[in-house]
Amino acid sequence: MLFNQTSLSGIKVKNRIIRSATHDGLADEKGAPTDKLITKYKYFAKNDVGCIITGYAAVSRNGVSPYPRMMKIYEDSVINKYKELTEAVHSHSVPIVLQIAHCGRQTSSKAIGTQKVAPSNVLHAFYPDKAKELTENEIYTIIDDFVAASVRAEKAGFDAVQLHGGHGYLLHDFLSPYGNRRKDRWGGSLENRCRIVELIIKGIKEKTNLPVWFKLSAEDNRKGGMNIQSSVEICKRLENAGCDAIEVSCGTVQDGMNTMRSKLMPMDAVFKYREPCASFPKLLNKIAIPAANLINPLIKQPQPLENFNVDNAEIIKKNVSVPIIVVGGIHRISDMENILINGKADFISMCRPFICEPDLAKKLKNGQSDAKCIMCNYCGLVIEKEPTKCLYGKIR
Ligand SMILES: Cc1cc2nc3c(=O)[nH]c(=O)nc-3n(C[C@H](O)[C@H](O)[C@H](O)COP(=O)(O)O)c2cc1C
Ligand code: SF4
Repeated sequence: MLFNQTSLSGIKVKNRIIRSATHDGLADEKGAPTDKLITKYKYFAKNDVGCIITGYAAVSRNGVSPYPRMMKIYEDSVINKYKELTEAVHSHSVPIVLQIAHCGRQTSSKAIGTQKVAPSNVLHAFYPDKAKELTENEIYTIIDDFVAASVRAEKAGFDAVQLHGGHGYLLHDFLSPYGNRRKDRWGGSLENRCRIVELIIKGIKEKTNLPVWFKLSAEDNRKGGMNIQSSVEICKRLENAGCDAIEVSCGTVQDGMNTMRSKLMPMDAVFKYREPCASFPKLLNKIAIPAANLINPLIKQPQPLENFNVDNAEIIKKNVSVPIIVVGGIHRISDMENILINGKADFISMCRPFICEPDLAKKLKNGQSDAKCIMCNYCGLVIEKEPTKCLYGKIR
């Protein structure tokens, strides 16, 4: 079943294995893909991945990530380079989906060159500078930005767009009562909280022929935030608005070990790549790193470590009819088959396993039973300073 040719929102795919959206840190200053990124994606495609979802691409200047060299799609001048990317992937008969995002308050005002914006000014533990609460006009501008980005994506030859509606970014904050404390028609009731995403989906449908996918955090581990019951209702509304596929994830960057789970905090990487730790004097690190490693096993990590969104995917799948993609700690081919055969989800999506083994899909097809990634999360820290890479065995 995993390797049967099928279709996903009308797009032909040669199997049910998807490279989940992964920030690669390989865009140029304007946000266009570099030749390195094109080579990387061509390699995934050549090695039998069913479909590629790009790393998140910002829809506007004030929606940019603090991570260096993010993809951006808010200027027409980048379209040609994106076209080179889609053509390279299509030359192996593999579809490619552009993930589009606005980082909201999960960025720093320093990174975007102006005060950051959000539905409400809620403090972010990693990016504590104050967010400006969006006015109604500014919300409409953001809706237009998502639609304009999708028009560019269609011109560039993408097969679909995926709205990043999870992990604590702007759309997630609108959906979640934790991030959205508004008292106007954009906050409060579920209907109001969904308004922005419904208008974006409808706008994209009006202006393009692209399928629209949505990635959400079905649970976000925040007090009063997203839970599976409200996520089911949100997904029903997404479907009614015209959404064509839903990818089920969880968590936020603030509790990153929930979105991409790991047994231990990647302490060595924290001290190498995350500020302020990365700038600590070497002498201080000599004490701080061993101390951090000592308390590391005592820090409680979210459980389970594997297949951690499958139950929520199954619940959502029972309540909507659009295809469901599941991501998160999926490593064993036996688990993938089990998810599909038992109707828990329709497609399997992976991020870290493809960072570790970019030719993973071919290996699984040829009989390898498990992905080699050990879920240490070092790659999740390296992106704060450098392009994404697997540090398995290289840092410790
Ligand atoms: C280095 C890195 C970059 C990521 N970039 C994105 C991104 O751009 N968009 C997104 O939706 N998720 C992103 N994620 C989250 C993954 O897509 C995925 O939801 C999460 O890692 C769990 O899947 P996994 O266990 O297969 O890694 C990223 C994760 C990592 C480790
Ligand atoms: S650094 Fe490599 S092994 Fe560790 S989680 Fe990332 S991809 Fe997997």
